[in-house]
Amino acid sequence: MIDVMKMVKARTYMKRNEPFLYSWHAYVGYELDLFKSFERPMTQFDVADALDLDEQLLAQWVAIGVSIGYLKEVSRNRYQIKNRWKLPKSKGNNSSGVLLKEMMELHLPTLLQYPEMMRNRSRLHFDEGEHAGTVAETSRLLEVLAYPKMAKRLKEKNCRRVLDIGCGEGGYIKKMGLRFPSTQFTGIEISEEVVETAKQLTASQDNVSIEQADLWNYKPESLQDMVMVNNVLHYIPLEKRQALFKEISSWVEKGGVLSIVTPIAGGPDSPPFANVFNSFFSSFDNLYRLPKREELIEWGEEAGLELLSLQTVIKEGGWYIVQYEKKS
Ligand SMILES: C[S@@+](CC[C@H](N)C(=O)[O-])C[C@H]1O[C@@H](n2cnc3c(N)ncnc32)[C@H](O)[C@@H]1O
Repeated sequence: MIDVMKMVKARTYMKRNEPFLYSWHAYVGYELDLFKSFERPMTQFDVADALDLDEQLLAQWVAIGVSIGYLKEVSRNRYQIKNRWKLPKSKGNNSSGVLLKEMMELHLPTLLQYPEMMRNRSRLHFDEGEHAGTVAETSRLLEVLAYPKMAKRLKEKNCRRVLDIGCGEGGYIKKMGLRFPSTQFTGIEISEEVVETAKQLTASQDNVSIEQADLWNYKPESLQDMVMVNNVLHYIPLEKRQALFKEISSWVEKGGVLSIVTPIAGGPDSPPFANVFNSFFSSFDNLYRLPKREELIEWGEEAGLELLSLQTVIKEGGWYIVQYEKKS
């Protein structure tokens, strides 16, 4: 009886882990641009040769692809992609593959360090330089969903000056700059590499400027009608967040808006990923836990900001957009 239970459990674990294969396969395909190579029927030999890859491992990847329905054998030894809509687009096309990359190269290895970290009471250090590019790119995926809510507020308040703190590659202000040509947008960003990309991406826009700056050493030249802080709060130590709200609030014109995008710490009945985010951030000595809903309201109140709205951006990840109005 006990042995039967053991087998059932082992099989359940394996079954539960099956979805991992889909993510793994898509990740490898994205990282090596393999799906593109198999857009037309190809042999493994030709692809391995063209991309200078290990043929034996490529054959394994193809075999798994066939078993999970991402690839099909179209004639003897020739394979082609199947269910194209399920696969990530190739790199550089604002592809969802970048989320897989972040999950596989950053989130999973981090979570696997838990036993070690718990034993040694240690934390990892988040390497900004190594991950800034990927993180900035994944944040851009959120843009599609969060952007309309920001643009609506900007229009409603007729904002003339907008500041984006920790702007990453400048995705939000780039889009807004095109839609609102008479508004002046400034983005500040700490990472040199990311600043370069943001500058290039917005080079043709006169009403968008990007500066390299640490938000703690920054002050805008004039009061702003809207300040945005998108996916940055987890970089701020908990004990400094109230001070940050007060500081930013002092940069906002009376009647102006503070707009924040952030995942919010999940409770027991939140979707699992909202909780996993917190486990991930808690693993680093230089990243900090997510804010709670009540904290966001309280930090705002203390800083003279009245809550205008708190709306979901992505339910599965516990992502929200929170907007406040400067009172006095
Ligand atoms: C997750 S990204 C979000 C980028 C963008 N706001 C978005 O939502 O798409 C966070 C960005 O904040 C930047 N950042 C972190 N700490 C900062 C600081 N003290 N001052 C300015 N930027 C900072 C990081 O380099 C990173 O590019």
